[in-house]
Amino acid sequence: EQTRIKRIASSIRVIPDFPKPGVMFQDITTLLLDPKAFRDTVELFVERYRDMRISVVAGVEARGFIFGPPIALSIGAKFVPLRKPKKLPGEVISEEYSLEYGTDTMEMHVGAVQFNDRVLVIDDLIATGGTLCAAIKLIERAGAEVIECACVIELPELKGRERLGDRPLFVLVKG
Ligand code: PRP
Ligand code: MG
Repeated sequence: EQTRIKRIASSIRVIPDFPKPGVMFQDITTLLLDPKAFRDTVELFVERYRDMRISVVAGVEARGFIFGPPIALSIGAKFVPLRKPKKLPGEVISEEYSLEYGTDTMEMHVGAVQFNDRVLVIDDLIATGGTLCAAIKLIERAGAEVIECACVIELPELKGRERLGDRPLFVLVKG
């Protein structure tokens, strides 16, 4: 277990001052270049969620689209993309959320999630928690239950976990 986590942690490249000075960017593209670390990442999530009766894995664009689908396939759940604005062709519900500079919007197709769905929300990283909060709101507006949010990396100093209230958050690595 610890050896798998260590391999995952050391496969993530940290790039200082990207996208702006002072930010230590956690780059998961190097994790994706290590097939064992990538497989271990997916397997650790699958081991946690396979018996939790998750019916939908919702992945946050863009990097939640990398980790979400293999998890969904392995646990036999649907995959629902939560997208940046104006990308989804059907009727959508939208949530605006704040970023460091300005705001962004996240959208989900109406009907993608049913009122009785048990949803796992996946993203690569939680920083301030604004992104996951918007995802939770979309799913709860559709009447479904967020069973847990899961990320590869948490930046605990930014206290995103506190913004999620009582929704559980599971992470593999703290940055
Ligand atoms: C990054 C990261 C998370 C989000 C976390 O995505 O992939 O989705 O920021 O930040 P927060 O907890 O402060 O909301 P980004 O918005 O940079 O877009 P991308 O995944 O499409 O590259
Ligand atoms: Mg993202």
